[in-house]
Amino acid sequence: MKDIKNVDYGLKKIFKDAKDFLPLLGTDYIEFYVGNAKQAAYYYKTAFGFQSYAYKGLETGNRELTSYVLKQDKIRIVLTTPLNSKSNINQHIVKHGDGVKVIALWVDDATTSWEETTKRGAKSYMKPTIEKDEFGQVVRSGIYTYGDTVHVFVERKNYKGVFLPGFKKWKSDYNPDSVGLKYIDHMVGNVGWNEMNKWVKFYEDVMGFVNFLSFDDKQITTDYSALMSKVMSNGNGRIKFPINEPAEGKKKSQIEEYLDFYEGPGAQHIAVATNDIVSTVSTLRSRGVEFLSIPPDEYYNAVPLRLEQHNHKLNEDINILKKLGILIDADEEGYLLQIFTKPVEDRPTLFFEIIQRMGAKGFGAGNFKALFEAIEREQAKRGTL
Ligand code: FE2
Repeated sequence: MKDIKNVDYGLKKIFKDAKDFLPLLGTDYIEFYVGNAKQAAYYYKTAFGFQSYAYKGLETGNRELTSYVLKQDKIRIVLTTPLNSKSNINQHIVKHGDGVKVIALWVDDATTSWEETTKRGAKSYMKPTIEKDEFGQVVRSGIYTYGDTVHVFVERKNYKGVFLPGFKKWKSDYNPDSVGLKYIDHMVGNVGWNEMNKWVKFYEDVMGFVNFLSFDDKQITTDYSALMSKVMSNGNGRIKFPINEPAEGKKKSQIEEYLDFYEGPGAQHIAVATNDIVSTVSTLRSRGVEFLSIPPDEYYNAVPLRLEQHNHKLNEDINILKKLGILIDADEEGYLLQIFTKPVEDRPTLFFEIIQRMGAKGFGAGNFKALFEAIEREQAKRGTL
């Protein structure tokens, strides 16, 4: 992959003189709208090792919705379900199934974030709003991105409570161990046919991101699946949003399958980082998390050569990686280990990626072909190729 070699982000250079009008401190939380938050929380605790963190619902005086907040190291996910048929959340679930509604970004000033983005053309989702309780105040604001997905800016510098006003600490007697997930490495959005550049421009113009890596359909194509992808990053490199659009192939693109079943654009996968992918994936597998099928022997036979080309030595035992189905990709700066789950809903929509970076800053483009062939085997079983 030619482009991969040029990945130094170049971000420092690009941003040296420009003032970042939307400084982002990190991902604050990811909120899913789901049909049954209680059962989803059990799944993410049991299978993915998330810890009980905060709660709101009938018991805290909220009669509209229930939200469970789960935490693992720096990752916070919120699982929200409506408590009656009148809530707008129902429409989201009817249309999309369970999926990501909010990608919340941690900022120093949620009011300025909203002003700077809306004046550059973002559609407002939530005007700057102050929420208070005895632990202080949080300011949140929000804008729409692709599909029904939104970015919420969270300013929590004057807040000492557990999560947000309205939530209480969630203590549970059921606390499965963490699986070693550390932080969100990147989050990928699938957008419609010919819409990738529109959304690239949105992230550039409205949010001040830069496009530092692109893959076209000649690079990411198998006999069947095809897609195009551009990776967007904010100024400090903490937030990375690759954007995919489908491309014509011999059969239906996996992105098109997603768009059909999600009934529009949305978050395709959440990549979470670990420091020990062998341990993390072994545990996830033992807890019932399903991964894409293991690549064939030829894939693993080719790995040593791919690493040698870049003068890297694999620290891990390749036979263990192979047994677990972990993929390996390399660039000039190092290598990375990654694996993809099957979709975590019945609709073939959102899935997770587990990633361990050993110096490499890419996204596994060298694995795309092997990965897509595995996805196509699953598509074939679902009869959606
Ligand atoms: Fe990824």
